[in-house]
Amino acid sequence: MTIDETPRGPVTGGESHGMGRPRTTASDLERYAALFARRTRGMKSSAMRDLMAITARPEVISLAGGLPDTSAFPSDDLAALMTRVATNASARALQYGPTDGLLELKSCIVQVMAEEGMAVAADELLVTTGGQQVIDLVCKTLIDPGDVIVAEGPTYPGAVPTFGAYEADVVQIEMDADGMRVDLLEQALDRLERDGRTPKFIYTVPTFQNPAGVTMSLERRHRLIRLATQRELLVLEDNPYGLLRYDGSPLPPLYALDRGEYVIYLGTFSKILAPGLRLGWAAAPGPVLEKLSLGKQGTDLCSSTFGQHFVVEYFARRDWRDLIAALRALYRGRRDTMLEALAEHFPRESEWTRPAGGLFIWATLPEYIDTTDLLARALREHVAFVPGRAAFLDGRGGASMRLNFSVVGVAVLQEGVARIGKVVNEQVRLYSTLTGTVPGPPRERPANVPQPGSQAGGARIVPLPRRAG
Ligand SMILES: Cc1ncc(COP(=O)(O)O)c(C=O)c1O
Repeated sequence: MTIDETPRGPVTGGESHGMGRPRTTASDLERYAALFARRTRGMKSSAMRDLMAITARPEVISLAGGLPDTSAFPSDDLAALMTRVATNASARALQYGPTDGLLELKSCIVQVMAEEGMAVAADELLVTTGGQQVIDLVCKTLIDPGDVIVAEGPTYPGAVPTFGAYEADVVQIEMDADGMRVDLLEQALDRLERDGRTPKFIYTVPTFQNPAGVTMSLERRHRLIRLATQRELLVLEDNPYGLLRYDGSPLPPLYALDRGEYVIYLGTFSKILAPGLRLGWAAAPGPVLEKLSLGKQGTDLCSSTFGQHFVVEYFARRDWRDLIAALRALYRGRRDTMLEALAEHFPRESEWTRPAGGLFIWATLPEYIDTTDLLARALREHVAFVPGRAAFLDGRGGASMRLNFSVVGVAVLQEGVARIGKVVNEQVRLYSTLTGTVPGPPRERPANVPQPGSQAGGARIVPLPRRAG
């Protein structure tokens, strides 16, 4: 689902699928159908597969991706560090490594986790091929067909195909400006219990959520950990964005509150260094970590040793916090630009989140607009976003969209939002003509301009996802 902006050709990203092959036809499929495992029925192409092909075109402004701005990494540094890896560790960097990851890399991860207040030991870590692999390995390890996963609604669109591939039943819990509604989670757990079902794990992106941009409050974090402890439930905390904070003070990750009993933690170098390295990690209770490691052996033996050496060299020769500081300043400005552009171009009836960090804004339009249909119109204007349905497994999210503000510059962001605003306003006018309703007056210009330190700006906060039907 992540869409690269580069005109040089299609690139897949954190939420993407490969492409470039001609589409399989129904008759091609029939020839092989009897051979496929049952689980392949649950494997759905991410909604963005076709979209990616289109947004790779240089004329398209893609606000659909989830990409960091890798041009912020100085290319001279890249060259110098690669040379150091080649001269100092050539044979080791080109060799297979331990499945759990290089010890030196684990000490870098210990530093990164300490920065967010987490104490972890090297032997509590498993280095993975991106954070995405953690989601896959957790499912591989815990999920039998029909098992329940509880997730936020909306949830990370890149997890949707993974949950599908393992044939999980996913229960999605609504969110508001303070993240997952833990009161509703509790009710859902009670309901499941009455049906004799216990979720295998609760999946959450508590900080600067993808796609909603909201952050779970401290009170809810404590309550979630209490629930997990009382009911002995595992929680998968997915935290790629915690260090990308633009306003306010950090909150403790769930992992820090739980002390390693029920929380499986997912971290990644993708958003604080570079996704091309494909390096992430899991921290988990010992027995779970062992199973994840066994699962990984069967998947890829080990993550790129070369990439791991590169990160070790980077941590040894540079202050790794510098790039994060630069990214924060860059993205903060882009977020503010997008919020201002939304206030200027989106109709009064729409609402959106004001993230204090991360890469995404979640906007919800009047109920009668379907963002999947709207996307086709937007593409005609050469602009793209992620339709909200990609973040649900049950058809909800039809009036919402995810907008990314990290990868294109300020002028392009403004133009992109203006183009989406144009097609949205056309739909609003069409609806009012057909129904005889009068569209609201244009939004007053400063209505949604971000207020420093405010969680919500002028916008009404997180549109609760509307249930289909
Ligand atoms: C919430 C979330 N989890 C996991 C990932 C996977 O990232 P990666 O595999 O690059 O570490 C992403 C990437 O966009 C994400 O947003």
